Amino acid sequence: MSQQATSFLRLDEVQIYFRDIGPREAATTVVLLHGFPLQSDMWQFQELALSASYRMILPDLRGHGRSSVTPGTVGMDVMAEDVLRLLDFVQIDRAVICGLSMGGYVAWEFWQRNPQRTQALILCDTRSSADTEEVARARHMMAAQVVTDGAAMAAKSMLPKLLANETRQNQPDRVRLIEQMILATDPQGIAATQRGMAGRRDFTSTLPDIDVPSLVICGSEDVISTPTEMAEISESLPQAEFVEIPGAGHLAPIEQPAAVNDAMLHFLANLSSA
Ligand code: MLT
Repeated sequence: MSQQATSFLRLDEVQIYFRDIGPREAATTVVLLHGFPLQSDMWQFQELALSASYRMILPDLRGHGRSSVTPGTVGMDVMAEDVLRLLDFVQIDRAVICGLSMGGYVAWEFWQRNPQRTQALILCDTRSSADTEEVARARHMMAAQVVTDGAAMAAKSMLPKLLANETRQNQPDRVRLIEQMILATDPQGIAATQRGMAGRRDFTSTLPDIDVPSLVICGSEDVISTPTEMAEISESLPQAEFVEIPGAGHLAPIEQPAAVNDAMLHFLANLSSA
């Protein structure tokens, strides 16, 4: 039976908001990790398509959406630990871990720490490398600025890079949706995550060890994690398939949901029949 539950995982110092939807008896559970500085609502088009057949766990990562904020620095390892504790809480042993961009950074960490809990990976518009010094410096500057200027400054600097031209011109509702999610993010959460991403590990050399089925999805117009870079990630993963999504930028699941859903459904169906 399909169910929908909205809840909070209460850890010592924070509350992690999540939704647990889809049939409890589903053989496969998919955990969807959103990008920065968004929230789990970014997966709303995937929820519609996947939740008839799959159980889906959708957290707002620490510092985002309805989850609480830890000021300072929040590393990808901290978020991956939150995801593990969430899986324990909902009593799921193994899951498909799907992450977009920052969610992908968390997915690498999750796999590294918990390979036995990782059934498969779906990596959307993400990177395996660490930041260059220059990028890390820019993140620290943005972290300082957002706390004084507010989330609007993050929306203004990020929006132009997140979307394909086609999306900006033809899908104003999607542009607004993304802007609203950024504006709803606590500036302290944005700052802490920027500092955490600046210090994240480089996973590139570990890709050949990731021996679970993997789906690598990239918008054809993504200027942040380019199709060339993501095709290289896919080639380094032993069991990966690469799907490029025409007409999408960095937020392919929101910009071109039908094509992304097709790719995910096809991948998950093959996983179930394997
Ligand atoms: C994201 O979409 O999560 C960001 O582009 C991640 C990043 O800033 O590296």
